[in-house]
Amino acid sequence: MKICIIGTGYVGLVTGTCFSEVGHRVICVDSDERKIAMLKRGEMPIYEVGLNELVQRNKGRGYLTFSTSIEEGVEKSDVIFICVGTPPKERGEADLSSVEKVARQIASFATSSKLVVEKSTVPVKTGEWIKRVFKMYNSQVDFDIASNPEFLREGSAVADFLNPDRIVIGVEKEGPADILKKIYEPIINHQFDPNLREPSSPHPVPLVVTDIQSAEIIKHASNSFLAMKISFINAISDICEKVGADIEKVAEGVGLDRRVGRHFLRAGLGFGGFCFPKDLQAFIKIAKDLNYDFTLLKEVERINKERPALLVKKIRDTLWIIKDKTIGILGLSFKPGTDDMRFAPSLKVISILQKEGARIKAYDPASMGKAKELLPGVVFVSDPYEVSEEANALVILTEWDEFKTLNFFRIKKLMVNPVIIDGRNMFDPLKMKELGFIYKCIGRG
Ligand code: UDX
Repeated sequence: MKICIIGTGYVGLVTGTCFSEVGHRVICVDSDERKIAMLKRGEMPIYEVGLNELVQRNKGRGYLTFSTSIEEGVEKSDVIFICVGTPPKERGEADLSSVEKVARQIASFATSSKLVVEKSTVPVKTGEWIKRVFKMYNSQVDFDIASNPEFLREGSAVADFLNPDRIVIGVEKEGPADILKKIYEPIINHQFDPNLREPSSPHPVPLVVTDIQSAEIIKHASNSFLAMKISFINAISDICEKVGADIEKVAEGVGLDRRVGRHFLRAGLGFGGFCFPKDLQAFIKIAKDLNYDFTLLKEVERINKERPALLVKKIRDTLWIIKDKTIGILGLSFKPGTDDMRFAPSLKVISILQKEGARIKAYDPASMGKAKELLPGVVFVSDPYEVSEEANALVILTEWDEFKTLNFFRIKKLMVNPVIIDGRNMFDPLKMKELGFIYKCIGRG
């Protein structure tokens, strides 16, 4: 299949690269000349596990090419995936101006029939709008529209793309569904490099074929449900703290019921990143526009937003006065395995601490380059031990694996007060107590 991917962000680049890996001819288009020049030189604009190797391999064998020209992409392909960004606007709704612009450009350049697939996360009915744009700007050519939402996690996007739990396709008629089934066939049947196969992935991968509106809603409903699980367990962790129960055991006991499931029941600082907060906000706005007040999701958002302040309260409850104290921060990115700082809870925690007059020292294995621009006044250091030097408290904000093996004897000696506030429940409270720390975590009274 000849495929054009428009937009080479996380979603577009992973999608295009993985399609080329399973045997399709892919042209990735982006208006950002710098990014395309980098990709042409074989340099990566983002870091994603395994992506670099696949880009090099498929670029090398001529299955994956890059261009800044939508005209070229449209001309050379039968199927076009729209993967441009849909960032949040001031009142929470998604900014669809890039989607609309790209749709206009596709319409103006197409000279033969095309299947256009929306992969960017968009509000329900965007497919209909795209269709109207095609009619408005090019009534000569037949366009089919489909929705094919992505469910990729940062840090494991390549593995997620090739080993999905399901593939969702929203179409208006059978023809486009058949084309998309053919495109995804090697993934559905795991016909690719066995090294990239994850044994836990269902075989064959289930395919959900539905109408476009349902596919659009599946994306928002999925992310909202996962966010709801996180806020639910965080609310339960607040109750655990009040009665002296242990959220880790409660989550295990609840999650082992297969109807609930173990995943996304980790209590902590709440969800961040560029997807959950933005998609939740957008879904609440979409519902509002449809005259449905989605109070359930508003509560999910509220519970999540109060996490950073609750963590700072634990610091205050331990140190009494935060002003003029040195607080060492371990972990800044919104989750481990990525350097992404977008909507990271660390930003909020650090800003509250700075407002209260704390001196902040911080270390993160991956995100310090990005964090430096976002966190003025923070002293960035090169390892966790330097963070601990002269610190009145150590605060864990991201659960990086490398923190699991820290030498806490050494850390205790370096600190002014042996205080650890763990926002991610990384350690056993009893062991930390035995080591001589005042150790406070989440929901383990
Ligand atoms: C998410 C979705 O998982 C993916 O399907 C979607 O397409 C994009 O958004 P991502 O943002 O990369 O992916 O991160 P994910 O691993 O899902 O974690 C999201 C946030 O929830 C992180 O801040 C993480 O720390 C937090 N989280 C996750 C918890 O607090 N507790 C949990 O149990 C799980």
